[in-house]
Amino acid sequence: MKPIQVGLLGIGTVGSGTFNVLKRNQQEIQGRAGRGIEITMVADLDVARAQSVVGPDVKVVNDARAVIANPDIDIVIELIGGYGIAKALVLEAIAAGKHVVTANKALLAVHGTEIFAAASAKGVMVAFEAAVAGGIPIIKALREGLTANRIQWIAGIINGTTNFILSEMRDKGLDFDVVLKEAQRLGYAEADPTFDIEGVDAAHKVTLMSAIAFGIPVQFDKAYVEGITKLGAADIKYAEQLGYRIKLLGITKRTAAGIELRVHPTLVPAKRLIANVEGAMNAVMAHGDAVGTTLYYGKGAGSEPTASAVIADLVDITRLHTADAAQRVPHLAFQPDAISNTPVVAMSEVVTSYYLRLRVADEAGVLAKVTGLLAEAGISIDAVLQREADEISGEAATQTDVIILTHDCAEAKMNAALAQMQALPTVLQPITRIRKEELA
Ligand code: NDP
Ligand code: HSE
Repeated sequence: MKPIQVGLLGIGTVGSGTFNVLKRNQQEIQGRAGRGIEITMVADLDVARAQSVVGPDVKVVNDARAVIANPDIDIVIELIGGYGIAKALVLEAIAAGKHVVTANKALLAVHGTEIFAAASAKGVMVAFEAAVAGGIPIIKALREGLTANRIQWIAGIINGTTNFILSEMRDKGLDFDVVLKEAQRLGYAEADPTFDIEGVDAAHKVTLMSAIAFGIPVQFDKAYVEGITKLGAADIKYAEQLGYRIKLLGITKRTAAGIELRVHPTLVPAKRLIANVEGAMNAVMAHGDAVGTTLYYGKGAGSEPTASAVIADLVDITRLHTADAAQRVPHLAFQPDAISNTPVVAMSEVVTSYYLRLRVADEAGVLAKVTGLLAEAGISIDAVLQREADEISGEAATQTDVIILTHDCAEAKMNAALAQMQALPTVLQPITRIRKEELA
């Protein structure tokens, strides 16, 4: 059978990895797919650089639409990124009857409903394994491997840049800005690194996992998003003293009130495997009613790890290319008519436990006032740590840090108690609040 022909839009970090791995492993890939898979046409703004990557036998153009218009192309890979031209090109490729592979989580988390509907109407596949956790086959695991389960929750380290920053800050005591520059140099960070450090990239990814796990539409606009920019080195240290690590987690949970969908720094018990995922590595925990808790670990970014996922999608599409559309795995795991309108719960309704750090005047009665306010609010305390005054030097010697771990309570209740504590004259700085998950 003649090889399936692929057009590649954007040959940067992931695109070049995809071309190279496909070429290097072509025989094994053909053996698995049942026919050859060849990238025969590439579009990139920098034609000379692109041609130097793919060699003289592959046609390179600077107009992505010329690739879509080529009748010989069966599959279009979109590796440009962003919501702008990438959205137009993906929709045009679908309209032209091409299957699409993309690593573009931003595009799918925001415009997925429109894109999947267009693909279903046209009877083509839109595959996106690389969009979540790079080389880890988590989409396949959730959509197919765990298909017997009623999934209860997913929690993941799904942004390599922020995990790298948190690891380096903890291990080497380095400053945030220094480590961010290093992550950019290593190619982990998004074109706009605020997407990484403000939690937006992780929220794109958890939005996609949530839709697949719970059979709801992709709803990035309903996600609660908090990044790591306000985290202090002191909190990383105190968390460690209390037996926890701080990780930026993407969390989605099924609850009686609806689906929780949130990204924020989280205290995780240091003994959990996921707490020990370091550097730019990713890990996702998924809990199903039948299987229990499962854990997936690997490289979440980088040229060839991400290419591994892109090519897995190419193989899947190649195998199913001639199959009836009804026989294919649905884009979001559930058949379109089984997608539910279960609501995403507001953050104020989320129930979790908390780490609080208060910089207070080091004088009698302060701790009693703070704990009294928590008691009045019905918030139960799990542990309290007071930093010795002599650990704080200079003008701050009359101040101390009080760290409190609470038991579970609703976010709205905690917000009200925080406002009262913050109003105390003896609370000298904005209170730090970090959510805590036992992931048991
Ligand atoms: P890069 O910026 O390295 O590559 C994008 C490429 O697209 C560049 O070569 C760029 O050319 C080209 N391009 C831009 N506009 C056009 C256009 N209109 N037509 C044709 N080509 C164009 O990005 P990455 O490879 O890092 O990322 C690609 C996608 O993969 C993104 O959606 C990203 O979020 C996702 N992703 C990336 C991962 C990673 O580790 N890097 C991991 C997982 C997902 P030029 O440089 O000349 O502008
Ligand atoms: N910027 C992303 C990260 C790339 O750091 O994880 C992979 O999606």
